[in-house]
Amino acid sequence: MHKEQLDSLKAWFTPFAASYYRDGDVFVNENIRLKECHTHRVCKEMRDLAAALGKANGDAVLAETIALLHDVGRFPQFLKYRTYKDTISENHCLMALNVIEEHRLADGLAADERSIVRQAVEFHGVKEIPPMDERAAHFTRMIRDADKLDIFYLLSENYKILANQPDKFKWELEFPNTAECNSKILEAIMAGHTVDYRDLRTVTDAKLLQIGWVFDINFDHTLRRICDCRYLQTIIDLLPKTEPINRAANRVMQYVQQRIVI
Ligand SMILES: [Fe+2]
Repeated sequence: MHKEQLDSLKAWFTPFAASYYRDGDVFVNENIRLKECHTHRVCKEMRDLAAALGKANGDAVLAETIALLHDVGRFPQFLKYRTYKDTISENHCLMALNVIEEHRLADGLAADERSIVRQAVEFHGVKEIPPMDERAAHFTRMIRDADKLDIFYLLSENYKILANQPDKFKWELEFPNTAECNSKILEAIMAGHTVDYRDLRTVTDAKLLQIGWVFDINFDHTLRRICDCRYLQTIIDLLPKTEPINRAANRVMQYVQQRIVI
C-alpha cells in the first residue's frame, strides 16, 4: 500500500464519523465520540507496534489502514441499536465489512491487501483466530493487540472513576458492581486460558477477564506497553482482596514477567 491511499482513507473517516453525531442526542454523541477517539488511539498503537516489529513502508501503512477501519461497523451499530453489545444487536466486525463494501474503501488496494484488510477486520474480535494464511493471521494478531491496548486504557480509566467518583461514571454497566466472582473464571486464569465472556456475572468477573487478556496478547511489545502504562496493576488494585483473586492476579503477573523482562 502507498501512504497516499491511507491519507485518503483518513480523509474519508473524519466526515464519516462526523455524520453519526446527532443534534441534541447526548447519549449517541458521547458514544460515537468514544469510538472516534478509540479509532485514533488504536491507529497510534498500531503505528508503534508496526515500528516495534520492524515494519516499514507498505506493511506499516497496511497495518494502520486495518486500525483505521477495524471499528467502522461501530458507528452504524450504535445509531441503529443504541448499544455496542453485539449479543443484542449485530456483529460489529461484519457490520464493518459492510461499511468497507458500501463505501468501496478497499477498492484501490491490491487483491492480497484487500483480503488481509477484510480478514483482519472480520476476525479482530473473535475469541480465537480461525485458520488463515500466515500473513493475514499476522496482521489480524496485530490489530487484536492494538485494540486490546486501547481497551485496557479505557477500562482501567473507567474502573478508577467507578471506584473513586461513581457519580461521574458514564458507561452503561453490563453487570452488577459486586465483589463476587465466578470460580470458572479463576480456574481459567490459573490454567493460563482466556476467560469466556459467557461466564461473566459481575464487574469483578469483568475485571478478571480483562487481566486474563494477557494470555491472548501476541507480541512482547504489547505486553511491555501494558506494563509501562500500569494497566494490569491499576485493575488488580481495584479487585477485591481475597485469597483466590490474589492468586489469579499473581498468576497473571508471573506470566507477564516470564514473557518479558520488566
Ligand atoms: Fe476497537
